[in-house]
Amino acid sequence: MSISTTVPAPNSKMNSESNTKKVMLSAVTPSNTLTLGNYLGALKNWVGFYENYDCYFFSVDLHALTARQDPKALLDHTLRALANYLAAGIDPKKAKLFIQSHVRQHAELSWILTCHAYMGELSRMTQFKDKSSKQGQNIGCGIFSYPILMAADILLYQTDLVPVGEDQKQHVELTRDLALRMNHLYDTELFKIPEPFIAPVGARIMSLQNPLAKMSKSDTDPNASIFLTDSNDQIVKKFKKAVTDSGTEITDDPAKPGVKNLLTIQSAITKKPIAELVEGYRGKMYGHLKLETAEMVVAEIGPIRDKSNQILSEQTELMKILREAAQAASVQAELTTTKVREALGLLSPAR
Ligand code: TRP
Repeated sequence: MSISTTVPAPNSKMNSESNTKKVMLSAVTPSNTLTLGNYLGALKNWVGFYENYDCYFFSVDLHALTARQDPKALLDHTLRALANYLAAGIDPKKAKLFIQSHVRQHAELSWILTCHAYMGELSRMTQFKDKSSKQGQNIGCGIFSYPILMAADILLYQTDLVPVGEDQKQHVELTRDLALRMNHLYDTELFKIPEPFIAPVGARIMSLQNPLAKMSKSDTDPNASIFLTDSNDQIVKKFKKAVTDSGTEITDDPAKPGVKNLLTIQSAITKKPIAELVEGYRGKMYGHLKLETAEMVVAEIGPIRDKSNQILSEQTELMKILREAAQAASVQAELTTTKVREALGLLSPAR
């Protein structure tokens, strides 16, 4: 049996890449089909700047297990999310697109971090408080330790930047706390300290039925969310049914969250400021706003839906992309876990 004392050297390509580019990482939970909110709030933004980073984008199937999943649906959602990334324009040669459970180190590091986290800090997580209060009895342990697995996702790749929604910022802060604690405890720079990146205001898309709540892929009202699988007809119908506000005037007014949400969607698609859009709606009715928003959304996500369907119908290519990316990600993940194992006194397996 040999005791590994050195971290395997990364290959030269990885080395030069990681010297010049910062690491950006983000992930999506395949608990359902992605929505227009996921697309405008995350994906569409990344397409603009991801090429300047060494990127890891993945589907967190292990996170999805914190709620009971239908196995076949989980598999479909996992693959579809990645097909959506490709269809939205993420180039698999420039970003690693993979499935979380294919890189086994996520689960390993998650356990090690669990042993360094406190029940107190996890109990303070807003998402845990929300979800557990809704579950009543029998709260799953996975819901409680969910943020630790997320921390492992981030820390494994020595990540610099984590683009997330406002609701996930607290989890990135916990990740930073865990990383600082471990670095301090073992007196080595085991992990880089990541920064959250919150998308600019305006990218937060709300439910079409309750514009005070975020559009969510797990909303039980099918009219509340536009899914990236919706047909053009379904999109138009949902916008026609969208809840607007009392009054008739189209203005950017916090008292009119329904109208504001439609304007936000248009602004995220066209990149025009809301004030300019409002100008164009002077003297027009809510009906115009709903229909024109629907048309813009159809033009924007219709092609992504069609492309995703095509990618999913020729699965060999998708599988190849996922396999190669998981292999490349595993190399980096293994570097980090080896460093951690050594610092903690865990014997590395003989090679
Ligand atoms: N928790 C995130 C969400 O619900 C998903 C996620 C898991 C994630 N691991 C991550 C996001 C790592 C960013 C980085 O949206």
